[in-house]
Amino acid sequence: MFDALTRQPDDPLLALIGLFRADERAGKVDLGVGVYRDETGATPIFRAVKEAERRLVETQPTKAYIGPEGDALFLERLWTLTTGEAGRGRATAALQTPGGSGALRLAADLMARMGTKGVWLGLPSWPNHASIFKAAGLDVITYPFFDIPSQSVQFDRMMEALSGAAAGDAVLLHASCHNPTGANLSADQWRAVSDLIAARGLLPLVDIAYQGYGRGLDEDAAGLRTLLAAVPEALVAVSCSKSFGLYRERTGAIYAACSNPETALSVRTNLAALARTSYSMPPDHGAAIVSMILGDEALKADWMEEIETMRLRITSIRERLAAGLSRRWQVLTAVREQEGMFSLLPLEEADVLKLRAEHAIYMPTSGRINIAGLKSAEVDAVIEKFLSL
Ligand code: LMR
Repeated sequence: MFDALTRQPDDPLLALIGLFRADERAGKVDLGVGVYRDETGATPIFRAVKEAERRLVETQPTKAYIGPEGDALFLERLWTLTTGEAGRGRATAALQTPGGSGALRLAADLMARMGTKGVWLGLPSWPNHASIFKAAGLDVITYPFFDIPSQSVQFDRMMEALSGAAAGDAVLLHASCHNPTGANLSADQWRAVSDLIAARGLLPLVDIAYQGYGRGLDEDAAGLRTLLAAVPEALVAVSCSKSFGLYRERTGAIYAACSNPETALSVRTNLAALARTSYSMPPDHGAAIVSMILGDEALKADWMEEIETMRLRITSIRERLAAGLSRRWQVLTAVREQEGMFSLLPLEEADVLKLRAEHAIYMPTSGRINIAGLKSAEVDAVIEKFLSL
């Protein structure tokens, strides 16, 4: 019976993890999957996370089920971290999810249940966005967001496309640290797109997965907060993978900002029912850690200090890359202004494969680089390899 199945290709981004691991060359460089690395090449566990884990081991009274919604205190604290004043007092349906991907899938399933037809997706985007929406049975409608040769956001084209969206369509927006381009909307652009979304009766779905890695914790959520103040309804998918370094713990949440508490209750029951028939209840460990950190002044301060150090490391690597790469690609001075872990270089697939084969530099064939994967000591050598293409 299994013969009815055809073999599926590996996810190209995740396949890089195995390819890189299997490469035995000294000095190999991993600019692939979006995980933060420090100057030794390690993906550290935050000090605050380690301490929260220690306390959990000592004090956690039980491992009994919590329920499909997950931990209410975690959800409340994460909402405050993400939305600040803009989210305060808002009627909201919230569910803890297995990572940000789990949040996006739940959002997609909810939209399918609501009868949402089209989801507008700016390209390029994280490749899994389109896959998740399609898997839920939604139609994906794409529009140009970023032009690779000029390294610029195509804001006018984006606005023109969204002006043609039908009322009730959804629009996926990256809150900040855009994956894969690092190019973000300005404050004015956030206001303009928020007004358009409100005027046309569209449903925004904001993906926030890199808070703290761009310009700062509040700054990276500023656009989302502008949007929330302007629209009656919104979905927000939050990932704690990068911001708390909890990748494998699968920690995230989906929030639906609603216009009144009755609607919020109805949305919550629908999200819970969807979760129940999928993974039933979310994993707890990562959420318990995040909740403890956000609820403890000293732990939170330490976490904020550590993520700021990481952000500054990325910023300094960005500066050096921009200076070096712009010697050949003038337009790549933009790498300095781009934010978060990623930039999308104007490379052909053949260039990417050549860098991999000849220099053991790994990145997806799209030309995306994870800047956080570079150690300071190897930046100059890596720049030279790019310039030699
Ligand atoms: C990435 O884009 O590298 C990360 O978001 C990891 C993933 O799940 O793809």
